[in-house]
Amino acid sequence: MPSFPSYRPRRLRGTAALRRAFAETSLQPSHLIAPLFVKEGIDEAAPISSMPGHYQHTLESLIKEARELVERGVAGVILFGIPAHKDPEGSEAWNDSGYLQQALRTIKDEVSEAALVVADLCLCEYTDHGHCGVLDGELVDNDATIDRYARIAVSQARSGADVIAPSGMMDGQVAAIRSSLDDSGFPNIPVLAYSAKYASGFYGPFREAAEGAPQFGDRKTYQQDPANVEEALREVALDIDEGADAVMVKPALPYLDVIRQVKDSFGYPTVAYNVSGEYAMVMAAAERGWLDERVATLEALTAIRRAGADLVITYHAKKAAEWLS
Ligand code: PBG
Repeated sequence: MPSFPSYRPRRLRGTAALRRAFAETSLQPSHLIAPLFVKEGIDEAAPISSMPGHYQHTLESLIKEARELVERGVAGVILFGIPAHKDPEGSEAWNDSGYLQQALRTIKDEVSEAALVVADLCLCEYTDHGHCGVLDGELVDNDATIDRYARIAVSQARSGADVIAPSGMMDGQVAAIRSSLDDSGFPNIPVLAYSAKYASGFYGPFREAAEGAPQFGDRKTYQQDPANVEEALREVALDIDEGADAVMVKPALPYLDVIRQVKDSFGYPTVAYNVSGEYAMVMAAAERGWLDERVATLEALTAIRRAGADLVITYHAKKAAEWLS
């Protein structure tokens, strides 16, 4: 490599056109997926205080929001349902006429040709104890839980989900879901596995949004320890082996190294989830004038793409798509 003064790196930074032409990473609306919450039993959309700009939606407001997102060119939406009725098993989750299922059917009719409708698959919004599966004492019973996940996946696929995204971090969940989808006539519905999902402090606002906070204990016996990356690679390898079509790392910004290693090790479609706490930090600081929301958001999303994510699930999707168009 030549050195100064024959090589002057600043030459390629001199104008906006030069910078754009030589950017190594692209960020487009088609790289973004927007999370949406739909809540049974409310008359109008309820703002989520820790996530300005986000709501617990009614079916009606959900459709309107999804339509606006699709018009802005996002890759898709990922839906979370909050049922009126919770029980220890989370049985509303596999009710074909449950609220999430209704939402999937409605949204599919309206917008799904233009964008993906992804169904998050978990039990924490559906159980009265807020854990991601059925309990055996104070522990989540892995194998009993994946039987339930297998039923939920079929119900979601039947209701029109384009992609099933299991987020519960049970062992064997991808295999259980893949085989139930195959056996039920859905061999072509892809599974996007939350493979490396960490027990994170950055999920706080989501738990307000989805009303799925654990009523006792925490999720450390099923979600990953933030200290581990080799374990993340094993989790991803297992999920791919079990039939995952795409894998996910979550959260995103504190785990850019994990995203990079997953992408480099497997060369698989890789999604990163820029989670609720990451969104809330930017919004809270921007509200105080401590940083510029637009600059910080586009920088963060670009960084996640640069780390190796093909798609980014982000609460900034709508605004970012607007800024980018
Ligand atoms: C539940 C689930 C969580 C998130 C997505 N699915 C919360 C959790 O595991 O406690 C977090 C998303 C976010 O913070 O934006 N399985």
